[in-house]
Amino acid sequence: MKILRTPKELQEYRKSLSGSVGFVPTMGALHKGHLSLIEKSVARNDHTIVSIFVNPTQFLPGEDFEKYPRRYEADKKICKLAGVEALFMPEVSAIYEKDEVLLKAPHQKGYILEGHFRPGHFDGVLQVVNKLLHLTKPDRAYFGKKDAQQLYLIQKMVRELFMDVQIVPCDIVRDEDGLALSSRNVYLSPQERQRALLIPKSLKRAAKLIQSGITDTSMIKEEMLQILRPLKVEYVEIVNKDFDAISKIEIGDSIILVAAYVGQTRLIDNIWI
Ligand code: PAF
Repeated sequence: MKILRTPKELQEYRKSLSGSVGFVPTMGALHKGHLSLIEKSVARNDHTIVSIFVNPTQFLPGEDFEKYPRRYEADKKICKLAGVEALFMPEVSAIYEKDEVLLKAPHQKGYILEGHFRPGHFDGVLQVVNKLLHLTKPDRAYFGKKDAQQLYLIQKMVRELFMDVQIVPCDIVRDEDGLALSSRNVYLSPQERQRALLIPKSLKRAAKLIQSGITDTSMIKEEMLQILRPLKVEYVEIVNKDFDAISKIEIGDSIILVAAYVGQTRLIDNIWI
């Protein structure tokens, strides 16, 4: 497996490839969720490139950029075993210049929900994903549905900037207890982890209510909030796949989203209905 450190190295490597290329952008501290994206890419493409870059521009001041888990040696082993051909691990200075040409997340959909509580977060996500897609020129790029709004905005960017890449959404991977896998789960103490399970519990309850025929989203949100009461909830929202809030569930076109703090750790989760 090649370790590429600079955009130039990556561009040269990319030029040497023929056949299809799959790309999995990550911030490292890889877990089974990342692995499922990597495995999909390896199975579907002739070559798979993974990036590991803790992108400073998507963290707000006071967020966990400094303490975000960095496990480069373990990540390299995981990628190698999974059949990744090239791992792009640049320094921040190799990716960003001073006084950059900036990308701005859309006014509305980039500043609701995650974007409301983390204003500017998606500007940074789109900035770096745009750069990474330009460097890797993949046929397919793989993103997890756990970051549902990120996925939506990346699909929107790719469409609006006429980028020639297929964005492949990948299902959320959960631990046996139901908690969605996240690199930030390592911050949770055993007690916090127990409390964090209220998040998937609330989503399961929502799914049950929908199965029983309830479609009124305010009723569903109300029940979810009851379950989530011990946590500091930032939002519980139900949107369609265009990220418009909806008052009635439409099967096949609804996403139920939660963001909540468990202690100091901010977690997000969702289910697609
Ligand atoms: O989802 C992530 O890990 C990050 O937001 C991404 C897409 C790698 C951009 O830094």
